[in-house]
Amino acid sequence: MQVLGLLLGLQASIARAQLDSYDVREATIEGVHNALYGGLASCRGIVESFITRIDTYNPTLNAIITLNPNALSLADEKDFALAAGNGTGALFCIPILLKDNYDTKDMNTTGGCLDLAGSQPSIDAPVVSAFKNAGAIILGKTNLHELALEGLSVSSLGGQTVNPYDHTRTPGGSSGGTGAAIAASFAVFGTGTDTVNSLRSPASANSLFSVRPTRGLISRTGIMPISYTQDAVGPIARNVNDLAVALTIMASVGYDPDDNVTALIPSSSVGQDYSARLYGGALQGMRFGLMEGFFNRTASNETIPVNKILDDMVNALTTAGATVVPINESIYKSSAISSAFDVQRFEYRQEMDTYLSRPSLYGVHPSNLAELYSSGKFLVIPSEYSYVNTALVSSTNNVTYAPVKLGIQNLTTAVESTFRTNALDALIYPEQANLVVKIGSASQSGRNGILAALIGFPVVTVPAGFSPGSANAPLGVPIGMEILGMPWTESKLLNIAKMIAEVKRVRKRPLSTEKAVEAQSLQAVPVITPDTANVPKAYPVGVL
Ligand SMILES: *[C@@H]1O[C@H](CO)[C@@H](O)[C@H](O)[C@H]1NC(C)=O
Ligand SMILES: *[C@@H]1O[C@H](CO)[C@@H](O)[C@H](O)[C@H]1NC(C)=O
Ligand SMILES: *[C@@H]1O[C@H](CO)[C@@H](O)[C@H](O)[C@H]1NC(C)=O
Ligand SMILES: *[C@@H]1O[C@H](CO)[C@@H](O)[C@H](O)[C@H]1NC(C)=O
Ligand SMILES: *[C@@H]1O[C@H](CO)[C@@H](O)[C@H](O)[C@H]1NC(C)=O
Ligand SMILES: *[C@@H]1O[C@H](CO)[C@@H](O)[C@H](O)[C@H]1NC(C)=O
Ligand SMILES: *[C@@H]1O[C@H](CO)[C@@H](O)[C@H](O)[C@H]1NC(C)=O
Ligand SMILES: *[C@@H]1O[C@H](CO)[C@@H](O)[C@H](O)[C@H]1NC(C)=O
Repeated sequence: MQVLGLLLGLQASIARAQLDSYDVREATIEGVHNALYGGLASCRGIVESFITRIDTYNPTLNAIITLNPNALSLADEKDFALAAGNGTGALFCIPILLKDNYDTKDMNTTGGCLDLAGSQPSIDAPVVSAFKNAGAIILGKTNLHELALEGLSVSSLGGQTVNPYDHTRTPGGSSGGTGAAIAASFAVFGTGTDTVNSLRSPASANSLFSVRPTRGLISRTGIMPISYTQDAVGPIARNVNDLAVALTIMASVGYDPDDNVTALIPSSSVGQDYSARLYGGALQGMRFGLMEGFFNRTASNETIPVNKILDDMVNALTTAGATVVPINESIYKSSAISSAFDVQRFEYRQEMDTYLSRPSLYGVHPSNLAELYSSGKFLVIPSEYSYVNTALVSSTNNVTYAPVKLGIQNLTTAVESTFRTNALDALIYPEQANLVVKIGSASQSGRNGILAALIGFPVVTVPAGFSPGSANAPLGVPIGMEILGMPWTESKLLNIAKMIAEVKRVRKRPLSTEKAVEAQSLQAVPVITPDTANVPKAYPVGVL
């Protein structure tokens, strides 16, 4: 009896030690599951720990548009299931956040646009169903650059999201609400969308990891569209393992007749478990192409830190036994690629009209893009005027559309040739050639996402370093690197990211979200009301 009592006492003290070691900050899927299945924390307790952080820090960061009023009752259901011996699912009780352009039937889906505040999907997007079926708890929806059209993460409904590492800068975008929220540990991971840069820019600006998958790997059905050719959806996380689990669940939707690009998925990628394939190989012998044209060599405080951090990364890779080959071909210039081949303006109106006119979309909302833009209930930043004006009158019937699509095929062939000629495993380059811009800037300039967006090749973005610290940014401003691979090589890219994360431990928690969190009563989950007062005065609301 005494021995048993001793054992039980020992178990309890181990339990307490593990409970003490559960830290909501930087919490991983594995860490949450250890706390939960070890009987050390309830699902309600875990969900409350994240909601407390949102309550404490969101008033400063302004990353969340809607909190899920059912989050705590869903947590109670999980606790009940667990007690009944049914606590299964890769994401059982994992709190996540969705960019507010993912259709959810339990929360309106707004794109950050005032004119869509009452837009109510009656069906979850297939990837949202996949998250729910895997046991995830959707804590809420994040702010984005309005309708995902730019990279500043300011919107008429959600206001301006703030970078947790430097409150004078944007969090990148357009998935900047997710970026700021995940950096601040408002959830275990989150989702974004990417038409040009939008999964990669927030990862880069918030010291996070993201995957923009191969075109076709993840169904885009039920996600507010921009471009049939360029749109992709994917996860943003604080570490590679969580990213791989999230990708596995999102890709589990597989072939979806409502998004015909999913027919491209090769049988070898169907049902793949990306986390099981993180094997911890070696960088030794790998070959990376460094995109020389994706740097800004004009010396300034915004560019020098990026160039230095990428130099350091190249040194770390070569020290680990990899070979880095400079790629100097003149076609690889992001601004030239963008002006020649970007097809958003031809596809946007048709795609958005289809999204807005679906019978399954309930609530108060415009029935097409022209109606939305004539409502006056949206924000247009200066860099969007000509784009939107063109998109409103353009279509895929435009005579220049087909030649531009052929140009994308040429570009794809060029990249494939670069891979073969140099026997490359991946191309590497900074996501942004300059630091993420200051709040109030006219656009998020200097980004390099366009190449992968057009050719549809996968990219994993990794934290590469920080700029020197300053008064506004005590740790420095995060700097991220893209790792672009051949189609369907997500598994290889995740392994490279994991090895890089082991060689160079870059990610740090932001200091601005470190102050002691006082215990709070969490009976009622507030729905955050939109803060249009936060919109910088430079951007008029609805004046197109
Ligand atoms: C276990 O949970 C799953 C997912 O919530 C549910 O579909 C299933 O019916 C449950 N099984 C039992 C025996 O309760
Ligand atoms: C969601 O949409 C409905 C229907 O348009 C509207 O009544 C409701 O106020 C919206 N919810 C929020 C939180 O704005
Ligand atoms: C795929 O779907 C798009 C609309 O989403 C349509 O325009 C296109 O014609 C379809 N392609 C094929 C080959 O069916
Ligand atoms: C650039 O950085 C240097 C060193 O940190 C600083 O002294 C200088 O004021 C900065 N210049 C600008 C324009 O911010
Ligand atoms: C490419 O650029 C690098 C660095 O600027 C240089 O060292 C290398 O010689 C160049 N290669 C070619 C083929 O021009
Ligand atoms: C065709 O596209 C071009 C380039 O985007 C645009 O200037 C023009 O207005 C479009 N014309 C039509 C008829 O859509
Ligand atoms: C694509 O490549 C073909 C063959 O090299 C060339 O004739 C054509 O002009 C190229 N098109 C574009 C848009 O670059
Ligand atoms: C390169 O950086 C300089 C200094 O920050 C900036 O003025 C210039 O616009 C940048 N060039 C490009 C092409 O982004």
